[in-house]
Amino acid sequence: MAEVNFIEDCERLRDLAPIASARIQRHVFVCTGKSCSAADSAAVKDAFARELKMRGLQYGKVSKGCSPDGTVVLTECGSVGFCAIGAAVMIYPDGVWYAQVRAKDVPEIVEEHIVNGRVVERLALLRIPKPE
Ligand code: FES
Repeated sequence: MAEVNFIEDCERLRDLAPIASARIQRHVFVCTGKSCSAADSAAVKDAFARELKMRGLQYGKVSKGCSPDGTVVLTECGSVGFCAIGAAVMIYPDGVWYAQVRAKDVPEIVEEHIVNGRVVERLALLRIPKPE
């Protein structure tokens, strides 16, 4: 295996990864593990992408419909243990884990949680406490 170079120059790192200089406020994870996929988590992720892009909130390249000024990162993740109650969606740094999320729930989550900072209680099952 080839040795991976370690880059020590922070400016060079920022050039290589512009997101490191972005004003990210939230990270939305949508589980695409096997069980959540069976609960159509792909449609949930697509719905987040649609809603976030429509509002100019999703960070990313303009060529992909995102905005370099976006404040939200949307990614997939593997199983987090909500397999029987998916699709699982986690929003950080709030530490809120949503269960049984369907694509139809996404506009509400974006409007209430991401835009207005109010957790959608009917879907929120777990909250990771913030460090004191
Ligand atoms: S497959 Fe999504 S939580 Fe397990």
